[in-house]
Amino acid sequence: MALEPGTQRKRARFNSLKVREVRRLTDDSIEVTFDVPEKLFGEYDYAPGQYLALRKVLNGHELRRSYSICAAPRPGELKIAIKRDIGGEFSTWANESLVSGMDMDVMSPQGTFTTKLAQDADRHYAAIAAGSGVTPIMSLAKSILASSSRARFSLIYSNRTAQDVMFLEELADLKDRYPARFALFHVLTRERRGSEVFSGRLDTDRLGVFLDLLVRPKDVDEWFICGPFDLVQLVRDTLEEAGVNRKHVRFELFTTDRPDRPEGQHGRPVIVDEREGVHTINFTLDGVSATVTTAKHSRETVLNAALRVRSDVPFACAGGVCGTCRAKLVSGTVSMDENFALEPEELEAGYVLTCQSHPTSDAVSVNYDA
Ligand SMILES: Cc1cc2nc3c(=O)[nH]c(=O)nc-3n(C[C@H](O)[C@H](O)[C@H](O)COP(=O)(O)OP(=O)(O)OC[C@H]3O[C@@H](n4cnc5c(N)ncnc54)[C@H](O)[C@@H]3O)c2cc1C
Ligand code: FES
Repeated sequence: MALEPGTQRKRARFNSLKVREVRRLTDDSIEVTFDVPEKLFGEYDYAPGQYLALRKVLNGHELRRSYSICAAPRPGELKIAIKRDIGGEFSTWANESLVSGMDMDVMSPQGTFTTKLAQDADRHYAAIAAGSGVTPIMSLAKSILASSSRARFSLIYSNRTAQDVMFLEELADLKDRYPARFALFHVLTRERRGSEVFSGRLDTDRLGVFLDLLVRPKDVDEWFICGPFDLVQLVRDTLEEAGVNRKHVRFELFTTDRPDRPEGQHGRPVIVDEREGVHTINFTLDGVSATVTTAKHSRETVLNAALRVRSDVPFACAGGVCGTCRAKLVSGTVSMDENFALEPEELEAGYVLTCQSHPTSDAVSVNYDA
C-alpha cells in the first residue's frame, strides 16, 4: 500500500529515554511508558500504528527489538507493550527486569502501518489482530475514533485464552466510550465462548463467517492486519478473494516465522581474504561515505558489512520486516532475500533492505540518506 503523506521514512536515531512506568497487562505482557524530554518532541513525533526499536546489551551482545506504540500520539510520552516470547531473550528480560527509572536506548518511531486521519470523515476501518498484534491497533483505533465523530472501527481480536487478552480494560473502555462506533469481537482459540464463531482458530471457515455476517468487506474502507505470518497471509488472501483491493489492506508482521532465517542475527564477523575475491561496498550515511570489502564466499549482507566500519548504520529487526535499514541502491546490483517492509513503489525507485541484500556485482554503492 502506498506510503501516506507525513509518514515518509525518516532516519532512525537512538536517544536514551527514561522509563516512567511499567504496568503489567497480563501474566506475560507489560506496558512501558517512556518520558520524552521537550527538546526531543520533534524526533519522537509519530503516527498511530508506528513502532520504535529498543537497544540493549544482554549477556555480552547487543540486541535490538522493535515494539509498536500502543497509545494515541501525545507529546512528552511514548507507550509500548512487550509480550514475553517463550525462550525470547529481550522480551523475557523486559518482563522480568524492566522497571521505572531505568534509562533505555530508544529509536525514533518508524513504520508505515498507519493511515491519514481525516477530520469528520465517515469511514469504516476494520482490524484483525492476534496476541501482541493488537498493540499498534490500540493506537490506530484510539486515534481514528477520536479524529472523527463519524468514523467507525471494528476489531476482531484472537487470543488463546481470556487471560492472554492484552488491553482488556482499555478495549472495554473504548466500547463504553464509543458504543455505536467501536465493534469488538474477541475470539479465543483454547477456551469456549458462548457462540461457535468466537471459539477456535481464526481459520478460513471462521474468518468466512465473520466476513459474511459481522464485518462485511463491502462496508469497510480500510483494513489493518497484525499477527503471526500465517494469519496475516490468510486474511490477505481471503480479503482478496472477497474482492477487496490490496491497496486498502495494510499489514504489519512482527516476525517472518522463518526458523531458518532468525531475526536479530547481525554483526557476524566475516573473515575477508582478498585472494578469494571480494565485493566492494560503498555507503553514505549522514553525508559521510565509507567503503568496506566483503568476501564473495561469505554472502554477507550490505548491512552486516557496513556495521563493521560504522556502528550507527540504522537497523532494528535484521529480518526484512521493519524497513529501518532501507537505503537507495546507487550503483551495482544486489539480491534481496526477504522483503516484508518496502512498498512496490519504493522497490521501483531503487530502495533496498540492506539487512537482506547481498552484493551480486563487484562494486555496490548505497545511500542511507536518500
Ligand atoms: C515492526 C515490529 C513491531 C513489533 N511490535 C511488537 C509489539 O508491539 N509487542 C511485542 O511484544 N512484540 C513486538 N514485536 C516483536 C519484537 O520485536 C520481538 O521480536 C519479540 O519481543 C521477541 O524478541 P525476543 O528477544 O524476546 O526473542 P528472540 O530471542 O529474538 O527469539 C524469538 C523467538 O525465537 C525463538 N528462538 C530464538 N533463538 C532460537 C533458537 N536458537 N532455537 C529455537 N528457537 C529460538 C525464541 O524462543 C522466541 O520464541 C515487533 C516486531 C516488529 C518487527
Ligand atoms: S532491519 Fe528491519 S528490515 Fe532490515
